[in-house]
Amino acid sequence: MEKIRVGVFGLSRGVYIAREFVHNGAEIVAFCDLYDDRIAAARAEFGENIPAYKDFDRFLEHPMDAVILTNNFSDHAPYAVKCLAKNIHVLSECISNGTMAEGVELVRAFEKSKAVYMMAENYPQSLLNTELKRVADGGTLGKIVFAESEYNHPLPELDPGIVRMLMFTPKHWRNFLPKTYYITHSLGPVMYMTGATPKKVSAFAVFDPVAENAPSASYVGDRLANITTQNDDGSVFRVTAFSQFGGHNSTVRLCGTKGQAESLRGQGDKVLVRYNDWDLPENTENNRVYTPEWNDKDAELIKKSEHGGGDFKTVRLFLECIREKKQPPMPFDVYSSTVMSSVAILGHRSVLNGGKVYDIPDFRNEADRALYENDDLTPFWREDGRAPTVPCCSHPDYKPSEKQLKLYAEAIKDNFK
Ligand SMILES: NC(=O)c1ccc[n+]([C@@H]2O[C@H](COP(=O)([O-])OP(=O)(O)OC[C@H]3O[C@@H](n4cnc5c(N)ncnc54)[C@H](O)[C@@H]3O)[C@@H](O)[C@H]2O)c1
Repeated sequence: MEKIRVGVFGLSRGVYIAREFVHNGAEIVAFCDLYDDRIAAARAEFGENIPAYKDFDRFLEHPMDAVILTNNFSDHAPYAVKCLAKNIHVLSECISNGTMAEGVELVRAFEKSKAVYMMAENYPQSLLNTELKRVADGGTLGKIVFAESEYNHPLPELDPGIVRMLMFTPKHWRNFLPKTYYITHSLGPVMYMTGATPKKVSAFAVFDPVAENAPSASYVGDRLANITTQNDDGSVFRVTAFSQFGGHNSTVRLCGTKGQAESLRGQGDKVLVRYNDWDLPENTENNRVYTPEWNDKDAELIKKSEHGGGDFKTVRLFLECIREKKQPPMPFDVYSSTVMSSVAILGHRSVLNGGKVYDIPDFRNEADRALYENDDLTPFWREDGRAPTVPCCSHPDYKPSEKQLKLYAEAIKDNFK
């Protein structure tokens, strides 16, 4: 079988994903990034002769079957549209679209293309989330009526090294990232486990800015947003998207009519499954805590991959879709991806409007597309220099202080080139 030829756009996260392509038998054939240092590091790892470009359109002229979109968080859709127009398969990092209008454009481009489109959402594929899906699919929990999912990723806010690595320019997307936007690591797993799709969203943020002596150029003073969705099967999800409170965790709790299953916070790779006496399945206990094992032909490669094995499985699924000429299942397909982006974008509008409830459009429907095809509001700086058009924080006037900006400038000086 001929190797699938892959180009990598964005060489920070892109390097991690590219490794999994190699482990899955694909070939990395081209790179695109703005920074020489990142290009040099990628070449050192994957091959000194791999062509590297700074201009995406020139990169896309290089012969390739698929592109990994690991560029800026808010800029995936315009590049996905260009790939789809050339029938080049797309594995896009989250989120699929930074504006509502881009979501409409993306599904229209997808429907005209012969290519596979997949969201590179890896958290549903981790060991614990694979196990929770297995338990939910087994049916012993009954109907899942409520689920909670947290992506809580605190960072040492006084550490200049973290700022230098993650927010390396004043207009970097992470300095303008509203607390509802990084949604797919928490919403993706519960959509995957339950099959439910959000139809309404409401959210409240907690305003609690970083310390005055933190190196910061961030306009986001919120620490988290609590996001509630009502779903097409009547269930409700409560999720956080990139919250930042003490005690890192990425955990899920499924509540069914007959039982509960959850990944335990801070307990290693453990799940807890619970039932009442009258609903107890045979050969189990009311409250069972255990460490699941991989039951997968590629277990050894999966164990070596990042994000609880999710990175390997994500890439394997994408390559399987290309080889078998099929689209990925929900929530990795283009329609679920735009739903997740809508929860992110409209969830933030809810934050800015006192928790107002917004309907989540279904971009399969032309009427829903028409509602949003011109909605290009964004809290991010655009690549062409256009300024944000909505605030990124629940306190719209919040901005970094002179002292924080000075410490930030100090932190990012002498950064990579
Ligand atoms: N799934 C995961 O576990 C996971 C982990 C980390 C990051 N991500 C996602 O991956 C994406 C990238 O994240 P990151 O941390 O690597 O971001 P980053 O800002 O560190 O890197 C983005 C890279 O893209 C390049 N780039 C952006 N626009 C470009 C352009 N027009 N031309 C050439 N190069 C361009 C930049 O030079 C930069 O090196 C984001 O969407 C993020 O959400 C996902």
